[in-house]
Amino acid sequence: MSFSALVVRDTPERTSVESLELDDLPLHGNVLVEVDWSSINFKDALAVTGNGNIIRAELPFVPGIDLAGRIIESSDPAYSEGSAILSTGWGVGEVTWGGYSRYQRMSSDWLVPLPQGLSTRESMIVGTAGFTAMLSLQAIQEHGLPPESGPIVVTGATGGVGSFSVMLLAAAGYEVVAVTGKEEASSYLKGLGASEILPRSTFEDGARRPLDKGRWAGCVDSVGSSVLESVLSQTMTHGVVAACGLAGGHRLNTTVFPFILRGVRLIGIDSNTCPQPPRRRAWQGLRDLARSIDFDRIAHQISLEQVPEACGQLMNGGIQGRYLVDLRQSG
Ligand SMILES: NC(=O)c1ccc[n+]([C@@H]2O[C@H](COP(=O)([O-])OP(=O)(O)OC[C@H]3O[C@@H](n4cnc5c(N)ncnc54)[C@H](OP(=O)(O)O)[C@@H]3O)[C@@H](O)[C@H]2O)c1
Repeated sequence: MSFSALVVRDTPERTSVESLELDDLPLHGNVLVEVDWSSINFKDALAVTGNGNIIRAELPFVPGIDLAGRIIESSDPAYSEGSAILSTGWGVGEVTWGGYSRYQRMSSDWLVPLPQGLSTRESMIVGTAGFTAMLSLQAIQEHGLPPESGPIVVTGATGGVGSFSVMLLAAAGYEVVAVTGKEEASSYLKGLGASEILPRSTFEDGARRPLDKGRWAGCVDSVGSSVLESVLSQTMTHGVVAACGLAGGHRLNTTVFPFILRGVRLIGIDSNTCPQPPRRRAWQGLRDLARSIDFDRIAHQISLEQVPEACGQLMNGGIQGRYLVDLRQSG
């Protein structure tokens, strides 16, 4: 049986859609999955374009950190043939071959049974980005910040994590202030539930002073660097900042004052290694919100062939929402 996969090779073109056989898949894990949908995240764009050393395996390699589909073969009694599953993180698409392939072998330890009420397609509109946004929302809630605490600022707001954070926070009743570098994105962000839009440029110079006027009860930050420095200095007493990204850079230059004089909590979010109990709780939360939110309005559906171009666009900060990869015609 032959099928299509996007393969990274050490050639000038770097990627091509190739026809593979099941025997070409590395013998790995205890399940074989038929992949219906994948998605594009920041890490995928790094892997596909070759920016940064995100692939920690020999080439050739199949990227794609997210996938959803059905079990074809399994030696784990928890996953019978035909059961619908999703997978995000655990190094898939970085260390082991990932979701840009109609079939993939993997470990059942990494899978989440598809929550009832969520389709495989919806789960990949969510993907790592939406899952990370939900972990961030749950961190804000679990650290005792109810909606009446005040506005939550979301940075990198038009990106995958940012768009989902705006939608999920607004649906959970929070006042959301969206920070974006895209002037034209105002109506998109208001449509997702943001009550105010601020230009990224007002945060990019970093903190004006160690403790600035407190403006935010909390934050979901996917940008890092000077933008996060600025947010920390403007976070109100006992605020919660969920740090989940580095789209603007990985360095953080701050002081201890927000932490020791305002009790600000800086919470790290790592969706990749998130253990199964909070992982499944977050997916249940996403399933519950899917009843009131139309995830489709931020989705752009593309084919495997269109992945390299979309990844190039993402690297240039140019995509809005979530790119969903349809593998159903790929074998
Ligand atoms: N911790 C985790 O588990 C986890 C999971 C998923 C993603 N992440 C990280 O979160 C970040 C966002 O991921 P994503 O998938 O949402 O990527 P994305 O779709 O590319 O979104 C990133 C957004 O950040 C803003 N941005 C882009 N370049 C920037 C720059 N140079 N300076 C400041 N802002 C910039 C843009 O939004 P605006 O134009 O609206 O400002 C862009 O849309 C990445 O760093 C990714 O590695 C972490």
